[in-house]
Amino acid sequence: MNVLIVHESMFGNTHQIASAVAEGMRQGGADGDVRVVHVDDAPTAIADDVGLLLVGGPTHGFSMTRPQTRQDAATKGATPAREGVREWIATVAPRPGLPVVTFDTRVHVKMLPGSAASAAAKALRHRGFDRAERGETFWVEDVAGPVVEGELDRAREWGVKLAARVSHGVS
Ligand SMILES: Cc1cc2nc3c(=O)[nH]c(=O)nc-3n(C[C@H](O)[C@H](O)[C@H](O)COP(=O)(O)O)c2cc1C
Repeated sequence: MNVLIVHESMFGNTHQIASAVAEGMRQGGADGDVRVVHVDDAPTAIADDVGLLLVGGPTHGFSMTRPQTRQDAATKGATPAREGVREWIATVAPRPGLPVVTFDTRVHVKMLPGSAASAAAKALRHRGFDRAERGETFWVEDVAGPVVEGELDRAREWGVKLAARVSHGVS
């Protein structure tokens, strides 16, 4: 059973987290392919051999990114991006019954409310991914990062746990 990790990342922090989760899943013995793809390259139809979908992105304005917040990020030095997780969810063909878990990155210092993971899980359920659930938040030190110390390890450990869940079929 393959795993697809779709993510968005403007400063690279969520990408690092997505890669660490994938590493943990492979270490944890996830059978099949664990593929990390950026939303720009993500399929709009999830292949039948994908048994777990993870969706992650940065939290912007208490939720998933929007065109305006992505523009703000670009002015702060991020790689410009036309689309994000929000737009991908709006176009991907729903697969009811597929286990889906979301994750996000947020700034640790301010402890602002709101989470892209929570908003994405809700949007995915609304889209027809009826088993979408909110997973983990991973902390970054400031808008551009870096990832808070220990968070990449925590992402790997979370990946190991998810792999166990997939291989035991308790999804
Ligand atoms: C325009 C903008 C709005 C943001 N809003 C929030 C927010 O509401 N809450 C929060 O915790 N972090 C917020 N952040 C910080 C982002 O969560 C942080 O930049 C992101 O986690 C970095 O991930 P990335 O490197 O993958 O882009 C914001 C950042 C930007 C650029």
